[in-house]
Amino acid sequence: KARAEGDDAGSVQPLTDAEVDDSKGYLTSDVGGPIEDQNSLKAGIRGSTLLEDFIFRQKIQHFDHERVPERAVHARGAGAHGTFTSYGDFSNLTAASFLNAKGKETPVFVRFSTVAGSRGSADTARDVHGFATRFYTDEGNFDIVGNNIPVFFIQDAIRFPDLIHSVKPNPSNEIPQSATAHDSAWDFFSSQPSTMHTLFWAMAGSGIPRSYRHMDGFGVHTFRFVKEDGTSQLIKWHFKTKQGKASLVWEEAQALAGKNADFHRQDLFDAIESGNGPSWELSVQVVDEDKALAFGFDLLDPTKFIPEELAPLQPLGIMTLNANPTNYFAETEQISFQPGHIVRGIDFTEDPLLQGRVFSYLDTQLNRHGGPNFEQLPINRPLIPIHNNNRDGAAQNLIHKNNYAYTPNTLNGGFPAQANQTVGRGFFTAPGRTANGGGNGGLTRELSDTFDDHWSQARLFYNSLTPVEQQFLINAIRFETSHLTSATVKQNVLTQLNRISNDIAKRVAVTLGMDAPAPDPTYYNDNVTAGISIFNNTLPTI
Ligand code: HEM
Repeated sequence: KARAEGDDAGSVQPLTDAEVDDSKGYLTSDVGGPIEDQNSLKAGIRGSTLLEDFIFRQKIQHFDHERVPERAVHARGAGAHGTFTSYGDFSNLTAASFLNAKGKETPVFVRFSTVAGSRGSADTARDVHGFATRFYTDEGNFDIVGNNIPVFFIQDAIRFPDLIHSVKPNPSNEIPQSATAHDSAWDFFSSQPSTMHTLFWAMAGSGIPRSYRHMDGFGVHTFRFVKEDGTSQLIKWHFKTKQGKASLVWEEAQALAGKNADFHRQDLFDAIESGNGPSWELSVQVVDEDKALAFGFDLLDPTKFIPEELAPLQPLGIMTLNANPTNYFAETEQISFQPGHIVRGIDFTEDPLLQGRVFSYLDTQLNRHGGPNFEQLPINRPLIPIHNNNRDGAAQNLIHKNNYAYTPNTLNGGFPAQANQTVGRGFFTAPGRTANGGGNGGLTRELSDTFDDHWSQARLFYNSLTPVEQQFLINAIRFETSHLTSATVKQNVLTQLNRISNDIAKRVAVTLGMDAPAPDPTYYNDNVTAGISIFNNTLPTI
């Protein structure tokens, strides 16, 4: 394992110290007594099993409780350990310590996933793919909980349950591919046009990647870099695959789902076992705080990307995965990524999707792990020591020694002390951040009208594809919408596609057996993405 020992490992053990080698020794009960566990204790050779048989009870009871709830979303996944190496000292951008020296190595754990399928679903189902990275930095754990698509379906976290309910299997029969499940997903997509841009990426190659190794990763939201002097800039995270970006074609994805439902899991495992662990370059796009609205869209809107022509990628380092987990459950299943796991030098933005996520992951993990102490699980422990006054609770694994678990105290000399009063390392929030989100400054549930354009970047994305890729995308929409039973949903889908491109709407209308809508020029403006032409009229006509 790449994880190094912290400077005070007395209270926090590296992952290897939690390992138990069950490949040798003799069987014991849960509390250490030597046992034989093949036959239960009976009242006579043909008698009933006795309640006093604690060996039977421990074994069966533990088995009965083996399953924990799968993740509410992203239940299907695979992960691996690795190392991130910084290309240099980036203190000119951020105070984040893992980026403050050339060659500095930070252990990582990455989990890739699909979103909608259950834990046992097929790897090659068409979906957005999760790309979650934990950096075990020397100033605490930092997670980039991203996807392989740089944008997201919705703009406010309060709509997330609606999105997920629409794409999960049909509630009546739990069949993901049933006609009504398609109806509900496309009903939501076509009634909620903020989904269009991400939907186009998912219908293109990114929805069916060749392998996890062949995907890029994105932080999606705009975050902040904060420097030691407290000044900040807006950033977007990018992981670019060193293996080359590649996807399956739909026929391959379908055949693989039947032949090897673990295709992506196997691919990652085998690549690492054979010494060919995959690598990604981590970069950021950096934008000044006062440029949040400079490009014709809002950097707080997670349905938009920043074209690289407007903000080039700045490479920060290289990440390589080089060790498979020893135990899937203890590592890949129990790891608990959170967008709220930030380190000094990195801050949130007011993106309403990000703001809601900061609550949701902690909340769901309290449920998934059955209590508040899941950060003590071996895979979740930071490398550095924890000192705080959080106490007790189910599955408490640490033995806190300070009797004065409150602040301020004088009886223990004021320790543990506030970080900013000792090592000068208190701030996470950029000191210059303001709380007034504009408008008249009053409370509101409205979304800013700077979030209104849902179609231009979908068009920009479509026009960036080669004709063959465009045909794949059209074919994917044709395939998916061919399952629709509702005429209203079909019509709504055509209406939204037509706002992106009349050509796309016409080509899908043919296979739906519907009349193509007339062009809708209200939506075909190109003033949204400053400096980038979102028109090229070279669409193929297949
Ligand atoms: C899990 C990404 C939006 C709720 C995940 C995971 C990823 C991810 C990669 C899997 C983490 C892992 O491998 O363990 C994203 C991205 C989003 C997004 C990129 C948008 C930019 C949301 C929103 C919500 C949400 C808006 C809720 C309001 C969840 C939950 C889990 C999850 C509940 C399960 C976490 C767990 O059980 O550990 N997400 N997500 N996500 N996400 Fe999101």
